[in-house]
Amino acid sequence: MSGKIVILGIFVADTAYRAERQPRMGETILGHSFALGPGGKGSNQAVAAAMAGGEVHFVSRLGIDPFAEMARAIWAKAGVIPEITEDAESYTGAAYIFVEQSSGNNAIIVAPGAAGRIAVSDIEARADLISGADVFVTQLEQPIAAAHRALEIARAAGVRTILNPAPAANIPSEMLALCDFVTPNESEAEGITGIAVTSIPEAERAADALLSSGVGTAIITLGENGALYRDPRQSVHVPAFRVGDVVETTGAGDAFNGAFAAALARRSDAIDAVRFGCAAAGISVTRPGTAPSMPSLSEVQSLVLGN
Ligand code: RIB
Repeated sequence: MSGKIVILGIFVADTAYRAERQPRMGETILGHSFALGPGGKGSNQAVAAAMAGGEVHFVSRLGIDPFAEMARAIWAKAGVIPEITEDAESYTGAAYIFVEQSSGNNAIIVAPGAAGRIAVSDIEARADLISGADVFVTQLEQPIAAAHRALEIARAAGVRTILNPAPAANIPSEMLALCDFVTPNESEAEGITGIAVTSIPEAERAADALLSSGVGTAIITLGENGALYRDPRQSVHVPAFRVGDVVETTGAGDAFNGAFAAALARRSDAIDAVRFGCAAAGISVTRPGTAPSMPSLSEVQSLVLGN
């Protein structure tokens, strides 16, 4: 039985272009393919958490336009409960995603549109919802002031808090101290701590720096090397799950965070929840797209149990 998960973040429409390489300024190149689909880190994480069995409420802002309909369709399909402010003065945003044909790796420009206007007042209006959660999750694609206020409300109510600090930003130390879990990837960990992460010992040093900032537990995701879990008592390297050829890595971090939150909300031990998140990420990279690549609870459970 899942506890309640509240996720604050953005939805955007992902426009994904597969090509051999990115064009240089002033250059046009031919791509291999194009796909339009639902994205945005917060929305992807909400979809991943709901697919992984969580009761998920997603707090955001949308315009009133066809991309907003795309958002509502993916949430309905995954079972995410929308907690949306409609914003007729703006538009539902979009992301340009370059997917490198040879590796499936990506480079992204995200324009949040209406979700870039999520205000502290939007958060205050959802204070009861956030206070009543078992797990609260946010990222940094919407204004940081909104994320900060939501974390304050969650912490004051004793809700377990997860900050996925993506994209990397300057995070006030008071905000980091409100987080039970902070889940950067290698480059975000470097952006926050100044420590380059190219090995497990470096990940441990970066994690220690996060713990010194008041974070409860640091979890550094390491792509094909899994994740490093670090709390004040222990450091555990959780290896990645390999399940097939990598098609697209976009959204793998979101698969991890959503599934991790779902496992925590089911009262899993935190290290088991990291393992569950790594399994979800391992499956998601074998599929194209972001939200549409999120695995079901049974798929993740079979992978975890089979290893
Ligand atoms: O984490 C992947 C997501 O980042 C994409 O869906 C894109 O929308 C950007 O927000």
